[in-house]
Amino acid sequence: MARVFVTRRLPGTALQRLCAEHQTEVWPERSPPGREELLSRAEWLEGLLSMLTDPVNAELIEAAPALRAISNYAVGTDNVDLEAASARGIPVGNTPGVLTDSTADLALALMLGASRRLVEGDAYVRRGEWRTWEPGLLLGHDLHGATVGIVGLGRIGRAVARRLEGFGCELLSTTRSGGVTLEELLERSDIVTLHCPLTPDTRGLIDDEALRRMKATAYLVNTARGPVVDTDALVRALQAGEIAGAALDVTDPEPLPAGHPLLEAPGLLVLPHIASATHATRERMADMAVDNLLAGLAGKPMPNQAN
Ligand code: DGY
Repeated sequence: MARVFVTRRLPGTALQRLCAEHQTEVWPERSPPGREELLSRAEWLEGLLSMLTDPVNAELIEAAPALRAISNYAVGTDNVDLEAASARGIPVGNTPGVLTDSTADLALALMLGASRRLVEGDAYVRRGEWRTWEPGLLLGHDLHGATVGIVGLGRIGRAVARRLEGFGCELLSTTRSGGVTLEELLERSDIVTLHCPLTPDTRGLIDDEALRRMKATAYLVNTARGPVVDTDALVRALQAGEIAGAALDVTDPEPLPAGHPLLEAPGLLVLPHIASATHATRERMADMAVDNLLAGLAGKPMPNQAN
């Protein structure tokens, strides 16, 4: 039996399988354990099931001499220092594939939500302002027939592309091996949707210059990672009307504190990082994360290993 720490309760029954095999502590709070909480367990930690909110950095890995398996409950592993883990021979699991379609669905919902002004319309009705049908009320932009620029044509980007083909969109994409340049994509797209991982190369990719290249009628959609967009630059672009709006499932910082300037910016639709948040997907992610950890602790290859 290994000593395992799980940094949040998970949907479904997967954790029961983990508890049956290993001495497992599950962090009971809704908020993540703080740094001190994580470090205080480092001495005995053999298996860690972490969330994207837990920085599993070199300091933590070094402080945990017995750590031999890390399983991240996410497809993204930007919160884990993969190099530090690999240097110690610690496998790091992730949950690719299973959340592709849920995330792509939400990207489409954000596109429609922003371009058809769904949140504004809902608020308008609730405020009691809906007096009559009006020819010019809450006009938006069509998604059908729009030119959509997909930044990052991996699993999720391709799933978004498949959906958009059904809307008759013209698709532009940047890929490592081809597609159009980012500059061209930004200049031609009615919607720019981000599906790249967060890496040193993509941090701040959508900065002042990138936003200035976008059309004044265009929307930015982010279901990837908050820091791919320079938040200050986005606030400025929205305030200046340089783009029509932004629909974000992820932000930097995350969560956005009350009173953050982004929340005051016009044309913003924002969600609390819920692209994979369906019952089925989050339960399947839990199964995959537990399978990865069980395999790693047993010294077997993880079914989905990121390093
Ligand atoms: C991921 O898995 O990386 C998502 O952002 C959360 O489900």
